[in-house]
Amino acid sequence: MKKIAIVTSGGDAPGMNAAIRAVVRYGIKKGLEVYGIKRGYAGLLDEDIERMTFASVGGIMERGGTILRSSRCPEFVRKETRAEAAEVLRRNGIDGLVVIGGEGSLNGAMFLGQEQKIPVVGIPGTIDNDISMTDMSLGVDTCLNTVVDAIQKLKDTATSHERAFIIEVMGRTSGYIATVSGLVTGAEAIIVPELPVNYEELGNKLLEERERGKINCIVVVAEGAASAYTVARHLEYRIGYETRITILGHIQRGGSPTSFDRLLASRMGVAAVDALLRGETSVLTALNGGKIVTVELDEVLKEKKKLDMELLNLAGLLS
Ligand code: F6P
Repeated sequence: MKKIAIVTSGGDAPGMNAAIRAVVRYGIKKGLEVYGIKRGYAGLLDEDIERMTFASVGGIMERGGTILRSSRCPEFVRKETRAEAAEVLRRNGIDGLVVIGGEGSLNGAMFLGQEQKIPVVGIPGTIDNDISMTDMSLGVDTCLNTVVDAIQKLKDTATSHERAFIIEVMGRTSGYIATVSGLVTGAEAIIVPELPVNYEELGNKLLEERERGKINCIVVVAEGAASAYTVARHLEYRIGYETRITILGHIQRGGSPTSFDRLLASRMGVAAVDALLRGETSVLTALNGGKIVTVELDEVLKEKKKLDMELLNLAGLLS
C-alpha cells in the first residue's frame, strides 16, 4: 500500500479534524502518500482530491467542522455511482480509503469495500451516537457539552420567570442526546423515540411538581420523537403555566472538540491506518470498553445502536 485517501461525509461532527490530522501524520510516518478528498462522496465523484502534508493539518485539531468539508450524497445508494467512485480512486492510484461519517456514509464505505473491492476503513463520526458496536462516535461528547451548556442557560431563565421550557435536540431517530443531556441537567421530562409518551400522565406529573413548589420545568425532546411545538401543544394547556420553546438546531454540530473527542479521534485515526496496513478492509474502528478495536462494517450496520434504557431509568429516578 502506497497511497491512501481520507474523506469526511454526511453531517459534520467535532473531532473530524483531529482524526484527519492523525490519519495524515501517522500515514506519512508509515511511508504512505496521503490524499484528502473534498466535499464527501460528491467531491470524490468530481475527483476533488489533493495531497495532504504534515503541515497541511497543522493547527486543525482544535477546530470544529471538517477542513475537507462534507456533503450528503444521496446518489451513492446507486451501484453505478459507487463504481464510478471506485474508478476515480483507481485512476488516482489510491489503494486505501478512510471514511469518517455516520450511518449513511459508513454504508457507502461498506459497499466500496465489499462490492467495489476498495480497501476501506470507517471511523464513526456523528453526534447522534447511533452507530452500533462502538461505545462512542466522534462528536458525541462535544455535542453533549454544547447541549448541556444551552439547557443550563435556559434553566436560568426558566427559574427567573417560573416557566416551562420545551427544548428540542438532535439525534435523528435516536434519543441518546436527549437522554444524556436531560439526565445531567436534571430535566423534569425526557421524550425519546424509543418510548411512547403519554401526555396526560406527563402533564399531571409536571402539574403536581409545580403544586409542590418546583418553579421551573425543563422538558428535553429528541427530534425523532416529536417536535417541540407538538410537545408544547400537548402540555401547555394541561400544565397551565407559561411555556417557551427552544430548538437547539445546528449549534449542536459545531464548536471546538472536547479533549475526549480529540483523544478518541487521534486513537481512531491511527487505528484506521494500521488496519489498512494490516490488509483489513470493510471494517470500522470502534471504542470497546476503553480499547480501540476494529469490527466488521456489515455487522455494525445490521442494526441501529440501541438506547441504554438504564440511562433513561436513572434520569427518571433522580429528577
Ligand atoms: O446526523 C447528524 C444530524 O445532525 C442529525 O442529528 C440531524 O437529524 C441531521 O444530522 C440534520 O442534518 P442536516 O444538517 O443535513 O439538516
